Amino acid sequence: MSSVKQLVESGCIASIPSKYVFTRSLDETPTLPQPEAIIPVIDFSLLTSGNAEQRTKAIKDLGKACREWGFFMIINHNVPEKLMKDMISGSQSFFDLREEEKQEYAGKALFDPIRWGTSFNATADETFFWRDYLKIHVHPHFNVNALTKPAGFSEVIQEYCKQTRELAGELLRGISKSLGLEEIYIEKKMNKESGPHELMAINLYPPCPQPDVAMGLPPHTDHGFITLLMQNELCGLQVLYNGNWVSINPFPNSFLVNIGDHMEILTNGKHKSVVHRALVNNKATRISIGTAHGPTLDTVVSPAPEFVDYKTHPPLYRGIKYRDYMQLQQSNQLNGKSCLDRI
Ligand code: SIN
Ligand code: FE2
Repeated sequence: MSSVKQLVESGCIASIPSKYVFTRSLDETPTLPQPEAIIPVIDFSLLTSGNAEQRTKAIKDLGKACREWGFFMIINHNVPEKLMKDMISGSQSFFDLREEEKQEYAGKALFDPIRWGTSFNATADETFFWRDYLKIHVHPHFNVNALTKPAGFSEVIQEYCKQTRELAGELLRGISKSLGLEEIYIEKKMNKESGPHELMAINLYPPCPQPDVAMGLPPHTDHGFITLLMQNELCGLQVLYNGNWVSINPFPNSFLVNIGDHMEILTNGKHKSVVHRALVNNKATRISIGTAHGPTLDTVVSPAPEFVDYKTHPPLYRGIKYRDYMQLQQSNQLNGKSCLDRI
């Protein structure tokens, strides 16, 4: 496997190899000028506040953000800043290992516990994306001993996942309440008792000599219920909002959260899975770390009865095992469409 990092470091390239040239359509969706689109910001401390009025307002805001954007920023959460920084530096150290050392993790299959790779699905992609990744199935089984290098990184990942799992749980309970459902409604649908599935993707986007020609990750939606994303100080993420791309500049020490396909299935389209993409830059390496929180792999999620009315709003999706859904997404090229239209 040839990583983008290796390509960049192998010499001073002025133009990118043709396999990385991403054809943008002529009627490319416009990107909104910055001040026009302000993404919703949810103050997590209010969501868990002892003050009932504040809590009710935060839940209402959360529901609105899910309905209108499918995407929001979380501030004042409880995940320590140092842990987030350690995740970024540990990730950088992993990608800085010699190529032969990383080769040990160069898996082939989606459910390999740890997989280092490049592009999206390098065996199927016609166009390669300007991105290397490390994917880890971090829940319900994460073998800390499986990732031996860099030293200590596995333990950092384990602690980070423990903390973000709590954050995700609180958000899912808030979203359930904002939908007028019992607090643990979504977690029950995820089969929380048997250990919901979490896939972490650490993305590395090395500086690209032709950022307008290449693409880090093309437009896509995520498979889980929600994805929690953090990044280093470099921007690149864009989300589709009302037919326009909006560039996301997250506050330091914040998390970005997006609604995924399984939330859309469960709510029968009430909460839409948000299309997003990652652009690249020619200045420095961008790192992002996303964790998709889904149900257990064998759980079949279907539109829930609370969101279905056979006369006015019939089920929009058929139920599918999470494992099969993930496989469906992986086996297809990321072509700007969500996988939802295939079920
Ligand atoms: C992703 O969509 O998985 C990553 C997005 C990003 O790098 O910001
Ligand atoms: Fe994504």
